Amino acid sequence: MSEKKSKKIKIEVCTGSHCAENKSGKIAKRMKEWIEEHGAGDTVCVKKCDCLKQCKKAAVVKVPSRDLTFEKVKPGDAARILKSILS
Ligand code: FES
Repeated sequence: MSEKKSKKIKIEVCTGSHCAENKSGKIAKRMKEWIEEHGAGDTVCVKKCDCLKQCKKAAVVKVPSRDLTFEKVKPGDAARILKSILS
């Protein structure tokens, strides 16, 4: 097979002020830790991003390539979101 490996799935974690108040920094950290623990670094990556203009739903996590938006995310949701993306 000569198919090229597909690009990594990018997860965007908003770190604007409202999302930061809702622990988005911790969400991103937990996601990175989970990816490392599960050796999923070739498949998925986590990037922090600026305000996604959905502050009322903070903390907001997006997966643009899947057209997914997760709202009111808590640090405890990090693993569940990653599993749902990778399953
Ligand atoms: S601060 Fe996250 S959507 Fe605005």
